[in-house]
Amino acid sequence: MPGIAIVGAQWGDEGKGKITDLLAERGDAVVRFQGGNNAGHTIVREGVEWKLHLIPSGILHPGKTCVIGNGVVIDPKVLIDELEALRARKVDVSGLRISANAHLIMPYHLLLDSAGEAKLGSLQIGTTRRGIGPCYADKAARLGIRVQDLLDEKILKKKIVAAMEPKRLSLRPFEKDPSLDLKAMTEEYLTYGHQLERHIADTSKLVWEILDAGAMVIFEGAQGAMLDIDHGTYPFVTSSNPVAGAACIGAGVGPRAIDEVWGVSKAYTTRVGAGPFPSELHDDVAEQIRTKGGEFGTTTGRPRRTGWLDLVALRYAARLNTLTALSITKLDVLSGFDRIQVCTSYKGAEGAEFDDFPYHQTVLHHATAELTELPGWTEDIGECRSMSDLPAAAVDYLRFIEEHLRVPVTLVGVGPGREQVIWTEAGNETLLSPSASRRPVGAG
Ligand code: GDP
Ligand code: IMO
Ligand code: MG
Repeated sequence: MPGIAIVGAQWGDEGKGKITDLLAERGDAVVRFQGGNNAGHTIVREGVEWKLHLIPSGILHPGKTCVIGNGVVIDPKVLIDELEALRARKVDVSGLRISANAHLIMPYHLLLDSAGEAKLGSLQIGTTRRGIGPCYADKAARLGIRVQDLLDEKILKKKIVAAMEPKRLSLRPFEKDPSLDLKAMTEEYLTYGHQLERHIADTSKLVWEILDAGAMVIFEGAQGAMLDIDHGTYPFVTSSNPVAGAACIGAGVGPRAIDEVWGVSKAYTTRVGAGPFPSELHDDVAEQIRTKGGEFGTTTGRPRRTGWLDLVALRYAARLNTLTALSITKLDVLSGFDRIQVCTSYKGAEGAEFDDFPYHQTVLHHATAELTELPGWTEDIGECRSMSDLPAAAVDYLRFIEEHLRVPVTLVGVGPGREQVIWTEAGNETLLSPSASRRPVGAG
């Protein structure tokens, strides 16, 4: 029963959507297990772009089961719009299943997210303002409203009243906001329930059945390790756990269901929103990377902060996730730089050197990147399809990363298109490689 987790190893936007879509070809089901529509996952097929926020990146493969697991927070309006947009583009969405236990983003969560940011002023996190934090807060406070509640008017109304009661004070500025009217909100959400009903299921059981049949399940992460609420750069993080361990909780399977953990990292680093970023650049190189890499948020359109690859943070992510494989995306964006720099350690405020990611917030906030310089290459690599097609300096760069992390690089992205990848020798040893043999479904 092979289960494979695909997770972001940086601050999100590593190219998880592209890698998941590619690997889903060999999977039978794709499961999102955390986050919400703060995620923006891009897939480019034959020059056509697809942006997904809630629906798993396996949806473009006809006949695959796509699951929104219990660990995801769902804005039902966004989900319905996403479904409609896919249907309009002739995508078969009948394989989508939504956990009845997933929590719902409510209108007050959106208002509280923005109000919370406004209150923080210059200390704001730079959230996507999609209501993610307030929704997870209600889940933990046991005041959440779940997908199953959409199917019972009486329960839904009661739960909305109970959830809004403790928020009365903070919602006072929005008293006149029509989205907060109890009757209108209940009716709106009941309508969503009707629209989504055919997709609602016991997804934990469903995923188990797929695994038990010997089929391949891909667990698709959103965000990245450095945005993890427990292990990331708190408080500048999201409100869920994007690390692989959360795949179990957010999908409802045990740890033994996961056989491989694939981390995805760009060949450099980006971050959207506020918070520490030791290898951040503020010069021409930063702008060159941003322009060449198209580094603008998929969800909010904000320019992404850019910097050299941070191997201290990446090694930390490799440990947190027990990565068995690493996909390096956007290597093509580094073509044309004479020299490439890589952050191999941090220097603290008092000059202390850190090889490992510091746990202390104050240290991290003052840490600067110690850089190692490597030779660059000038060739356009967008057409390379094997390691031997790559310039020697690009191969050396990948080897340097591998040696530093002690995780094999299995897949290399050389352009946004789904065909623009290189499978390495190590990649061919993995369960998902195009050359790997596999058990037929039902053989488990
Ligand atoms: P995700 O959130 O991790 O799925 O990543 P995003 O979709 O938010 O951002 C990644 C961006 O990089 C998207 O615009 C992708 O189309 C693009 N992309 C992915 N892999 C590559 C690659 O290897 N090269 C280039 N140039 N672009 C890539
Ligand atoms: P994908 O899945 C990049 C960032 C926000 C902000 C912080 C908290 O596309 O990689 P939130 O709205 O989650 O409360 O915001 O997290 N953030 C992301 N950054 N990619 C994402 O998702 C992100 N999802 C949230 O910018 O700094
Ligand atoms: Mg993204």
